[in-house]
Amino acid sequence: MPELERHDTIRAVAFDGDCLRLLDQRRLPFAETHLECRSADDVATAIRDLVVRGAPAIGIAAAWGVVLEARRLAVAGKPVSPETLEPVLQRLNTARPTAVNLAWALARMRGAIAHLSHDSVAVLTAEAQAIQDEDLAANRRMGELGAQLLGDGIGVLTHCNTGSLATAGFGTALGVIRAGFAAGKITQVYAGETRPWLQGARLTMWELVRDGIPAKLIADSAASHLLRSGAVQWVIVGADRIAANGDAANKIGTCQLAIVARHFGIKFMVVAPASTVDMATSDGTQIEIELRDPAELLGFGGQRTVVEGADAWNPVFDVTPAGLIDAVVTERGVIEHPNAVRMRAVFAAGSA
Ligand code: MRU
Repeated sequence: MPELERHDTIRAVAFDGDCLRLLDQRRLPFAETHLECRSADDVATAIRDLVVRGAPAIGIAAAWGVVLEARRLAVAGKPVSPETLEPVLQRLNTARPTAVNLAWALARMRGAIAHLSHDSVAVLTAEAQAIQDEDLAANRRMGELGAQLLGDGIGVLTHCNTGSLATAGFGTALGVIRAGFAAGKITQVYAGETRPWLQGARLTMWELVRDGIPAKLIADSAASHLLRSGAVQWVIVGADRIAANGDAANKIGTCQLAIVARHFGIKFMVVAPASTVDMATSDGTQIEIELRDPAELLGFGGQRTVVEGADAWNPVFDVTPAGLIDAVVTERGVIEHPNAVRMRAVFAAGSA
């Protein structure tokens, strides 16, 4: 098996003709079970509950949710049309607010719906499949481009999970790490645990251990100490939405990594497909940050860990200012030191 194929064996989102099978990310790493979604509302619930998560993966899942609704309408002998599908597009769109890939994928499906003439279900199935296939190809390309920026024998720190589980396969930031390891450039990966949902501890470590990539988990609060030590040359993360000026929203805790990286002279890379770029949002202050249930912070595994009566604030994304980013890697190319002018040169308004 070629080296890169060996690092691309996980598929979190799979449409099997009747239903959407989602690898249940709430139960990893100890149970590899699948949830079968048979309706668009099943998919919306799965996105909200983090059965499927990661910006590209939720866009792909939502596209398949539209296909499920089109099939339901067709079987019931009802028209498959912009009018009958719009309510479901809107319900899917509200499942999570920060990752623009969700709205982007639904806009693509809406575009296909506007031009339906015959065999609507087949046309929408082809569009959802294209969204999925294009994401995989983008990840492979970003892996190549990002790995070219790396020196030899380096350590990297990543945050959250940006791997096969968060995408159609291979991953964004984790794709660069996979490609960098396969090229012999990366010798050690560090993964932050990513409180409170532990995407780093539960999901990224699962992917890295499966792939045989040397990885050490760190507590999120160990990042400054690690970056000061000299063991890491690049922090490599994904994004949920990149604004027109290059500000990047990603999992909570990313911004503090960028600040610390800059302080200690360590490079900071954001890896995301064009579907994550939102040229209609001028800067990071305009990005809606998802607030989740305080209970995610007040307990663990269903067990309360904080005194009864205590409250919590649980924003699950933050925005890293463009000025702290050394490179944005997309499948369309690398944007070094991103700003509005450099972003526009690659993503002219409307082309993202
Ligand atoms: O809340 P999550 O797990 O969906 O958050 C995911 C992230 O923040 C990822 O870093 C981002 O979506 C990029 S995934 C390729």
